[in-house]
Amino acid sequence: MSEMDPVKLKKIDGWKDLWEKGIFPWHKDGINPKLEKYWSILLQAAGKSKPEECRFFVPLCGKTKDLLFLRSQGFQVIGCEGVHQACTDFFTENSINDMEKVELEPGMTSYSTKDGKLKIIGGDYFKLTPNLLGGKVDCVWDRGSLVAIDLGDREKYADVMCSVLNNQFGYLIASIEREVDSPGCMPYSLSFDDVKDLFGKKFGVHLMESKSDENKVKDNTFIVSTDKGKDGSSLEDRLNMWRGRWDKSMIGWHKSVVNEHLTQYYDYLLNGKEKIKILFPLSGKSIDLVHCYNQGHIVVGIEGVPLAVEEMFQNGNLKYSRTFCIEIDGFIYQTEDGRLSVYCCDFFKMKPELIGEDKCDSVFDRGAFEAIFEADRESYAKLILQFVKPDFRYILNIYDYGGDYKGPPRAAKKEEIFGLFNGHKMGSNVVSKAELLMQEDALDLFKQKGWEVDYAIKNIYGIKSIAP
Ligand SMILES: C[S@@+](CC[C@H](N)C(=O)[O-])C[C@H]1O[C@@H](n2cnc3c(N)ncnc32)[C@H](O)[C@@H]1O
Repeated sequence: MSEMDPVKLKKIDGWKDLWEKGIFPWHKDGINPKLEKYWSILLQAAGKSKPEECRFFVPLCGKTKDLLFLRSQGFQVIGCEGVHQACTDFFTENSINDMEKVELEPGMTSYSTKDGKLKIIGGDYFKLTPNLLGGKVDCVWDRGSLVAIDLGDREKYADVMCSVLNNQFGYLIASIEREVDSPGCMPYSLSFDDVKDLFGKKFGVHLMESKSDENKVKDNTFIVSTDKGKDGSSLEDRLNMWRGRWDKSMIGWHKSVVNEHLTQYYDYLLNGKEKIKILFPLSGKSIDLVHCYNQGHIVVGIEGVPLAVEEMFQNGNLKYSRTFCIEIDGFIYQTEDGRLSVYCCDFFKMKPELIGEDKCDSVFDRGAFEAIFEADRESYAKLILQFVKPDFRYILNIYDYGGDYKGPPRAAKKEEIFGLFNGHKMGSNVVSKAELLMQEDALDLFKQKGWEVDYAIKNIYGIKSIAP
């Protein structure tokens, strides 16, 4: 791609030259597989039930066939392309003969089918307004767009995008990420942190997929969507640090074997029942979920990072569906038989109603309570007890340690656990009660990890209902 002179490409004329010379290596004749995979999720994220109700925007669209694909699904499709020849080529090459050309304002031309359901605004993206697009948009497909513009223009690009998005929307970004961009290489690298910096204050930024090739170039997929908890302020997002960990594969807590305490306290969790509904809060990609599913139980996970959930299903060789749920500003993943579901959202946005009338019989909490901020512990305890039946069983793994290290895993003392989990009314004549089931020295483990502590003990608590 040496002919793509980066200095020239800062101007639309640079791109125009390439189109005139017939050099457009970014153009693909097929439909992009990521668009095929995620378009229905975007529709749900936009809060629409049918493509016909949805305006789908494709910025810097060139003459991509993806426009035709989206139209064939029923969407009203609006592209934007700076080079007018690319706009006219799109209609000619696809034998769309009813194209109408209307000058909207100097430099801005609408190329549209007669019914107006497929149009490309020919002109400078940075001058776009909702008016020029014929209204705000519900969904966006961004492949080779944000990554094609000059790095210094990214914020401006995001501002234009935010100005054309409807209140409820779904925005799909496909990008590659290099460790270092060599001079002049296109498309520019785009990382999860870049997307978060551009859109994360106002919206939810979800890392859906990230696959590295042999040259350590990552193929990333992000979904940006409405997040009711965000108002543009710098309020800390609980999931930010964890998303970063998953993005960089820094997941030292993950185990490739079934958790020993799940096995050890299996009968405690079964509580005399043969088949149970078991909850794994903050489930990561723990294999414990698939293990319990394979034992015939109903399994529910809650995890904030889509990439983790996708990997869990894939590692378990399970077929699954993926939907967007506006109530939780996140996704619901489910096996075909509905017996294993993962709610992919901030735990604190999870709604007890979504668990269903048949609440959970038991909870296995490893790496969950210890992962959340101390300030969230009270809400956590209250919420989790709303997900379970009156005769529930709950195994809680937590460390007690003291020293310089502050976690995660975050520490908790016995008094705090008892204070948080004891005495909740769980049924007409029962209340919750925590007891310490096991203690184990964990100093060696902390030392191995390089976590500076004076002492460390692993505590396993059992929480259940008792008569008061
Ligand atoms: C220490 S890991 C433990 C994962 C899993 N329980 C295991 O044992 O492998 C904590 C997990 O919680 C997720 N997480 C952290 N805060 C969350 C929140 N507020 N809502 C949902 N998930 C969260 C992280 O993405 C991460 O996967």
